[in-house]
This record gives sequence, structure tokens and C-alpha cells, in this order.
Amino acid sequence: MSNNIVWHSAQISKEKRAKQKKQKPCILWFTGLSGSGKSTLANALEAKLHEMGYHTYLLDGDNVRHGLNGDLGFDEASRVENIRRIGEVAKLFVDSGTIALTAFISPFIKDRELARTLVEESEFIEIFVDTPFEVCEQRDPKGLYKKARAGELKNFTGIDSPYEKPTNPEVYLLNDKEDINKNIDKIITYLKNNGYLNA
Ligand code: ADX
Repeated sequence: MSNNIVWHSAQISKEKRAKQKKQKPCILWFTGLSGSGKSTLANALEAKLHEMGYHTYLLDGDNVRHGLNGDLGFDEASRVENIRRIGEVAKLFVDSGTIALTAFISPFIKDRELARTLVEESEFIEIFVDTPFEVCEQRDPKGLYKKARAGELKNFTGIDSPYEKPTNPEVYLLNDKEDINKNIDKIITYLKNNGYLNA
């Protein structure tokens, strides 16, 4: 980091932006195995929040890896950097007053904890999409588990790269039966009960 850089405070604060949007900005951090349903759930939740009149933005692993993080692979150091950048970008969205949704495997506890420390305590909501490994492998929507089993893909999460489960997520979702609506309702209820909507 350069030494000769000074933080410049904007005239319009996060609080003002949030008030205009009638919401409490936060990061809804989805984590789970590939094929667990993170993107599907995050997409459906964003659609629902949008329909309810809230301001949202979804950062999704497969998309962000095409652009901002197009230079990163799947070795451990690259995954750490992937999550660090996402955390910083999500933080900017929170500062803009937006409800940011992120859908990345984010397999390591310490990286998710690092992302958490970037924002205020109440602004980080970890959502664990807990789909059994066998179910993810069976779904295999992109055929990647098959490739990893065949040895054509290295460092695949759950096969030859670890996934560290959250121990105390704000929202826990068992997502083995594609019960999307029930899980979306669970997140909406959490957001309502904790003052994120109509703040
Ligand atoms: S993370 O581990 O760094 O958080 P991220 O969520 O950005 O991963 O990207 C995961 C997506 O990249 C998977 O859903 C899958 O489509 C694809 N992918 C390609 N190679 C791998 C790999 N070795 N391990 C996991 N996912 C991979």
C-alpha cells in the first residue's frame, strides 16, 4: 500500500444514503459448497427484495471471476485474495447504502472472518447454505465434480481442497431439497426481525 494516501470523507455519509433508501445496508454473505444452491438462493432473494422496493446488488462467484478476479485461480492464495477483494467491494456497496449479496464458496473460516471485520458488526450476515456433499456432487450442475473425480480439475472444494463449515452463522439453511421459498422466507424473517428492512 502506498504511504502517501489519505482517506477522503465524502459529504454524503453512509447513514444519509441508507436513510434515502429506507433500509439498513449490510452484506448477506452466502457460503457453501459448489452446487449447494448459493447463487440460486441469492438470486431469488435479490428478486424478492427488489420487488419489495429495496436496493440490492449481487456479487456472484462465477461472474466476478470473469472480470475483477479474472486473474485468480483456485490455489489457496488465490482463494484468499478472491475473498479479500470481494469483502472490500461488498464494503463499498454497504457504504453506498445498498444491501449487498455475495455468493462465493469462501471455504476458509479466517477469510470469512476477515470480510466480517471490514464492516460494522451488525452489517455482516453469514448465511450458511448447508447442502450435503453427496447431494452437491449428485447435482453437479456444471459437471465439475465429475472432472475433479477424474483428476482433470485440481484443488476442487470438497474433493482435494477443504471446506470449513461456519460454526455460528447468523442464518443456517439446510438446502438439500431445493426448498427455495422456505429458505428465502427464513432470510427475510431474519432481516425483518433485526431491523434491516424499513430502517
Ligand atoms: S472460492 O473458493 O474462491 O470462494 P468461488 O465461489 O469464487 O470460489 O468460485 C467457485 C466457482 O468456480 C464454482 O462454483 C465452480 O463453478 C468454479 N470452479 C472452478 N474450479 C474450481 C475449483 N477448483 N474449486 C471450486 N470451484 C471451482
